[in-house]
This record gives sequence, C-alpha cells and structure tokens, in this order.
Amino acid sequence: MSRIFFLMFAGMVMCVSQAMADPLKIGVIGSGNVGGTLGTLWVKAGHSVMFSSRHPEELTDLVNSAGPNAQAGSVSDAATWGDVIVLSVPYGAMPELSEKVQGKLDGKVVLSTSNPFGGRDAEVGRKALEMGVASADQQYLPGIHLVRAFNAIGYASMKDQSGKDKAIAVFADDAQARDMGARLVRDAGFLPVIFPLARANEGLPGGPLSGLWNEAELKRKVGL
Ligand SMILES: NC(=O)c1ccc[n+]([C@@H]2O[C@H](COP(=O)([O-])OP(=O)(O)OC[C@H]3O[C@@H](n4cnc5c(N)ncnc54)[C@H](OP(=O)(O)O)[C@@H]3O)[C@@H](O)[C@H]2O)c1
Repeated sequence: MSRIFFLMFAGMVMCVSQAMADPLKIGVIGSGNVGGTLGTLWVKAGHSVMFSSRHPEELTDLVNSAGPNAQAGSVSDAATWGDVIVLSVPYGAMPELSEKVQGKLDGKVVLSTSNPFGGRDAEVGRKALEMGVASADQQYLPGIHLVRAFNAIGYASMKDQSGKDKAIAVFADDAQARDMGARLVRDAGFLPVIFPLARANEGLPGGPLSGLWNEAELKRKVGL
C-alpha cells in the first residue's frame, strides 16, 4: 500500500515539476464554470493562464483566486497570447467566435470542452451533432490542431476528482494535438485515454465514452 502511495506521490511531483520546468501559456476562451475551473488547476500545476471574457474587467476574483500566474484579457488577447488555447463556450457562440479569432489560432492546439446541444444551441448545435462535433469545430476554426477533452465531466468533479487517478477520454488525430491534450489532462490531475476525433460524439454528455472512469472500466472500454 505504501509503495502505491509513493508511486502516486512521485507521479504527482514529476507532473508538477515538468509543468514548472517547461510551463505553458494557456489562453482560455470562455472563463465560466469549466474554463475557470480547468484554468485554475493549470495555474496550480505551474502554467501561466490568461482567462478571457467579453468583459475581462469582471474576471478579477477568478484571477486573484487562481494565483500569481493568472491574468485577464479579451478574447482576442487570449487567442494571440496563448501557446495553446482552451475553448469553453456554449456551442451556439461558435459562429461569432469563428469571426472574432479568424487567423489568430492557425497552427495552434485548441482543446475544446464545448458541447453542442440541439435545444440550447439551436440550429448551430443540431448541425454540429449531425455532421460530427469534431468536423464542426474544424469548420469554424480551420487550421487548428484540434483536441477535445473534459466534455462530459461536471466542472465540480474536475475540481474534486483531480489527482485521484481517474481517466477521461481525449479525442485527437495529429501528434501535436494528442500530446498537448494528454499533457493538459495530466496536468489537471487526470489520466488521458486517447481516441480518434471520429469518435468525439461518443464523448459528449450521455455518450458511451463520457464521464470519469476507474481503471477496470477504462480497460473494458478500450478493450484490454
Ligand atoms: N458545466 C459543466 O460541468 C460542463 C462540463 C463539460 C463540458 N461543458 C461544456 O463546456 C462549455 C462551457 O460550459 P460552462 O458550464 O463553463 O459555461 P459557462 O459557465 O456559461 O461559461 C461559458 C463562457 O463562455 C463565454 N461566452 C459565451 N458566449 C461567448 C461568445 N459569443 N464569445 C466569447 N465567449 C463567449 C462566456 O464568457 P463572457 O460572458 O464572460 O464573455 C462564459 O463565461 C459548454 O459548451 C458546455 O456544454 C460544461
């Protein structure tokens, strides 16, 4: 038992020290429940985070509570500043956002937690579900390295279950997106399990790859 604790502790130390040795600049677009929670976990792991909003002056409490490596900016600022971008907005905002960040995200890894719902996101949500959410993301944000993760875990669980050896699905195709997605998931305190983007709809709320898994469930889902 003590060996397991030692290995878990060593893993956490390695994780924090990697982030501290080589910290990322993470631009968060949509700093609500999910963006605020994940961004705070990444600041605690040693990364620098710019939380953004259409009203950045309203982010003072979030920035102060996240820590000294957090700052606030406009959506445009975060898109330009971040080495990697985390997109956490209601899916209905995608057409407007697509115009606002046009050309600013080219070649960057974008991790999206944003989910389409036919009701909340109306026609935009229905179309994305129909064509596949990853294809829709890439249509709105051409030229990005897309990774989707944290799509079907409540934001409270992101905070409460961090560091507790839980696995979540990460959807990506190219190596840059896969590696960065896995790193962000690990640095938030979870174990990444990679799936292709073609399966991203299965990771939406209620889908077969949604939620948090323990080791046995994970092995069953990936067919081990
Ligand atoms: N809630 C969960 O537990 C959970 C879990 C997994 C995935 N998700 C998905 O993650 C996404 C975010 O969920 P959330 O619960 O964090 O939502 P939220 O608390 O409402 O935050 C969403 C943020 O998006 C920003 N936003 C809205 N419209 C925008 C626009 N046109 N341009 C730029 N920013 C815009 C808002 O920022 P400003 O108003 O400050 O600009 C807001 O703070 C959703 O797609 C949701 O389905 C949610």
